[in-house]
Amino acid sequence: MNVDTIFTASEIATPENKLLKGKEMQDIVVIKDGAVAVDNGKIIDFGKENEIRSKYSGEIISFEGKTMLPGFVDPHTHLVFSGTRENELIMKLKGKKYLEILKEGGGIQYTVERTRAASKSKLKKEAEKRLDNMLKNGTTTIEAKSGYGLNRKDEIKSLEILKEMKHDVDIIPTFLVHAIPKESNEKDYIDLCIDMLDEIKERDLAEFVDIFCEKDVFSVQESERFFEAAKKKGFKLRIHADEIEDTGGAELAAKLNARSADHLLKASDKGLKMMATNNIVATLLPGTPFSLFTDFPNARKIIDLDLPVALATDLNPNCYTESLQFIFSLAVFKMKMLPEECISSIKNGAYSLDRNIGCIDRGVNADLVVMDIPNHRHIGYRFGVNLVGTVIKNGAIVWESI
Ligand code: NIG
Ligand code: FE
Repeated sequence: MNVDTIFTASEIATPENKLLKGKEMQDIVVIKDGAVAVDNGKIIDFGKENEIRSKYSGEIISFEGKTMLPGFVDPHTHLVFSGTRENELIMKLKGKKYLEILKEGGGIQYTVERTRAASKSKLKKEAEKRLDNMLKNGTTTIEAKSGYGLNRKDEIKSLEILKEMKHDVDIIPTFLVHAIPKESNEKDYIDLCIDMLDEIKERDLAEFVDIFCEKDVFSVQESERFFEAAKKKGFKLRIHADEIEDTGGAELAAKLNARSADHLLKASDKGLKMMATNNIVATLLPGTPFSLFTDFPNARKIIDLDLPVALATDLNPNCYTESLQFIFSLAVFKMKMLPEECISSIKNGAYSLDRNIGCIDRGVNADLVVMDIPNHRHIGYRFGVNLVGTVIKNGAIVWESI
């Protein structure tokens, strides 16, 4: 059979095409001297190079000595913002806590002021640069949240940007209820957000909703009220849960069948077990404690409790990285996750986003990353440089290192 392209590599490493819970995350598919046959932007077949080459003919692109993986999926980013916070890093270095800075009008509020003031084209340009960095670092699909507008006009502005942006990185938009605006209060802001849901739905500006359910931010009760309204209108749910204190966010995620609960540093065992029962993805964001000088989530315990774990950058002005490679290194060195579990996390992230991507399988979009490493065990192990050599999106090479 004739196909557009056959990509060959010294190793192909991919998660299986299913949700990977607990121990299952260790079992990935590894093919030495492998090949992927691609036609019309889709993976037609994959396997040993000699088998694929005997079954198919087409242009052959070889990546000798390199490892091919599915394109990375980043299921938690705050892509659209203006107002970087390098000065707050100095405050944090001197001992100030994240919630103290937020209470004093800094943190998210600082970024909100600048995001509100920024034009759409300025915000777009900044977001595009971040997307370029993501692509170079192997990411081919992201979830991206609004959340630095905190009023109707500026939340819609952020969501419009996400919808209008054209980039090789696919963007899945989320309406995030992120903080209580200075000029409002918890109840009124939730009322406003509930009121905005109709417009967001009608204009197809978001597929998911999210809320920062946290002490001194949004209570579980108000989060539930917002989620119930959003669910009724057909939005899928994600939640910033139990990051700084346990407020029952994991339980809420399980109760309302969220697609993902994120952070989870302080989540109770009860909440985590409820999530495992309901197949809710635990999205861990080790870049955040890294930039807050706090403890890392207990990934080993979460995996032992049979949860499916995804990994994300949480890209935001407090935790400013576009690189999932760096996140994999933090996962390995700070949360003791295996390289195989990092690879499986890509599929779980895709699952949480309700997309059939994040793996190399027949019929799946040919989104592939070629890393300049001899085998997948170098994932995480090598850090601080970009090991991505080539990024393939829908079957076409969209980025190559020189
Ligand atoms: O996921 N926790 C809330 N939101 C972000 C931080 C956003 C910010 O500090 O600007 C997070 O860590
Ligand atoms: Fe976040």
